[in-house]
Amino acid sequence: MLLTLTGTFDDWRTQARALLAQGISPDDIQFHDTALEPTDSLFAASDPLPYQASPTTTRTPPIPKRFIQLATTVAHHRDPRKWHLLYRLAYRLTHGEPRLLSIATDPDTAELLRMDHSVRRDAHKMHAFVRFHEVPFDSLQLPGLPDTQHPKPDTRFVAFHKPEHRIAEREVDFFIKRFPAFHWSILTPHGCIHWDTKQLTTSPGVDADQAPAEDSTTDQWLAYYATIFNPARIKLQAMENEMARKYWSTMPETRIIPDLLQTADVRVKQMNAPPTEDEKTASHLIPDVGELIPSMALPVLQRAVSSCGACDLCEDATQTVFGEGPSDAEIVFVGEQPGDQEDRQGRPFVGPAGQLLDEHLEAVGLPRSAIYVTNAVKHFRFKRMGLSRMHRKPTTQHVRACAPWLRAELRTIQPRLLVCLGGTAARAVIRSDFSITAERGQWIDSPYCESTLATFHPSALLRAEGSRREEMTAAFVSDLRAVAERAGAAVG
Ligand code: URA
Repeated sequence: MLLTLTGTFDDWRTQARALLAQGISPDDIQFHDTALEPTDSLFAASDPLPYQASPTTTRTPPIPKRFIQLATTVAHHRDPRKWHLLYRLAYRLTHGEPRLLSIATDPDTAELLRMDHSVRRDAHKMHAFVRFHEVPFDSLQLPGLPDTQHPKPDTRFVAFHKPEHRIAEREVDFFIKRFPAFHWSILTPHGCIHWDTKQLTTSPGVDADQAPAEDSTTDQWLAYYATIFNPARIKLQAMENEMARKYWSTMPETRIIPDLLQTADVRVKQMNAPPTEDEKTASHLIPDVGELIPSMALPVLQRAVSSCGACDLCEDATQTVFGEGPSDAEIVFVGEQPGDQEDRQGRPFVGPAGQLLDEHLEAVGLPRSAIYVTNAVKHFRFKRMGLSRMHRKPTTQHVRACAPWLRAELRTIQPRLLVCLGGTAARAVIRSDFSITAERGQWIDSPYCESTLATFHPSALLRAEGSRREEMTAAFVSDLRAVAERAGAAVG
């Protein structure tokens, strides 16, 4: 019996349910996926038998939830044999082998897990390797491209990506969460997805030559890439495994990788060298990359930072958490790194520490809406403990790897006042041996603005107990007051 499928999991499920209910053995059926197999192949010769699912009262044992989870992922695999594999497994699970999925050595189970892994890995690559270009809004002309129902901006962001599997629609939520306020399109050979800030639409797949050319920000992005390229992490083979060459054609930075690799040895030595006497008293953690970092519009910076892989933190964190606030803010607050809530929501200082900060800011007359808030490190570093994710301090290497982004934010915003919340921020911005206990609350020179001050991190207040907490809170409030006074009319 030959069953024709249109390539969706729901279609397969409807047919598989009916087949199972009638006890039809996997040996008696074949699937033909019209989305994956050209109709002029072998199947065109055979005359597909349309299967009539008849209502049935036969009771089939329940399919384990874990199977459904795996099957919904495997349904996106590019190999059309997945449908038969899924049916074989569903049949065996409901015909005397309910524990099949825990037998990793079973060839069907092993194949299912291999396909699941491959799709999830491809999704991870898509999150990391999609590169948007900003193009005039109407320059994107594609067959089936829907017209937006919402006000059109001047530009939209467009990326062409070539995933291994049919995953564009599966990954759409990730991109909507990350770029809710932009108009963007991701084009793939298997299908295109378009977001217009409110509505998601799809259109048929396209080839690379139908994607718009690179935009003027590509050179800036390349300059950034040169600064975030961490030579200490480079092992050529490992890099090629991670960033397989098949993705390179849509990633502009791969053009400069050979040059960067040539200078890798020298850069590793520089990064690992202990700070010199001069560096100890300078903000050496934010390397001076001079011309490499022009000031850039914050959305462009945000777009570039979202694919930063300069250190290992990008591997486990949900997303990059960029700074937030007006691009002409007079005051910038710098924290350590996003916490659990910030990592989930993609916004800085929205968890308990952020709420405490907001309360105190409000009390001294500094509205959060007038302030730009960011972190020294843009990814959450944590350790899993059961279901929880426990905060871990970022290392000096993490702060260093992220420093170009902080520097770029500061160069773009050019604040009058800079406030470091806690030791990590102060050591990133002021001096590598800065001590919060000994030096908080003093106005200090820094290369980024008129005046810089460091104070306690609000999380330290939350962790402290009893009278120590009261003392620290009083000091924190007095520091914020000093900031509000110095800001004067600027925020008032
Ligand atoms: N702590 C920080 O340093 N930054 C945040 O964004 C949240 C908590």
